Amino acid sequence: MKSLLTIAMPKGRIFEEAAELLQKAGYVLPEELNESRKLILDVPNEHLRFILAKPMDVTTYVEHGVADVGIAGKDVMMEEERDVYEVLDLNISKCHLAVAGLPETKLNDIAPKVATKYPNVASKYFREQGEQVEIIKLNGSIELAPLIGLADRIVDIVSTGRTLRENGLVELEHIADITSRLIVNPVSYRMKDETIDTLVERLAKVVEEEQE
Ligand code: PRP
Repeated sequence: MKSLLTIAMPKGRIFEEAAELLQKAGYVLPEELNESRKLILDVPNEHLRFILAKPMDVTTYVEHGVADVGIAGKDVMMEEERDVYEVLDLNISKCHLAVAGLPETKLNDIAPKVATKYPNVASKYFREQGEQVEIIKLNGSIELAPLIGLADRIVDIVSTGRTLRENGLVELEHIADITSRLIVNPVSYRMKDETIDTLVERLAKVVEEEQE
């Protein structure tokens, strides 16, 4: 018998792209799935349950085993070390992590301030560059920080580049390319190995086809 699989996913764009991948992989999902405000979505025909979470929280649900698998951005995986397996690069929601700031800003020589949602990634990056910085953790709208004098630079996700452009900021350094990953809870992988292997194989095939 097929086991029920609980999948944690972020709401919004990643959900839409991931749902499309799952459909291409042969899972029949109801059309209205994307429009729902429900946080738990059951698809009984496919033995699937979706938990819709904040992007940064997906790994928490999977690590604690309340979701068997999850779809999480590489940015989230880089920020927090979690006891989960990263099994497949889904190659969706492509973007990159970058350092940005106002053009031609004179940087504070002594520990410039860097605002970010990713304090661990930013600390590691600047440490590797041999730069001493002060990290200021924000939860969103990071681009505000240099505009109002809270920080000299930011470390944030750049997708289309529109947010930077419309706020008069420029990209200064490229940190890492980001895509969404399929992650698995280690215990679930043992208990539901067949169901999870099938999901991984079917998705891997679609990802490969999409790249051709
Ligand atoms: C993300 C990111 C940037 C923006 C980049 O923010 O933090 O602000 O998207 O996208 P763009 O390059 O296509 O403009 P999100 O929408 O997740 O909101 P947040 O700023 O509140 O985190």
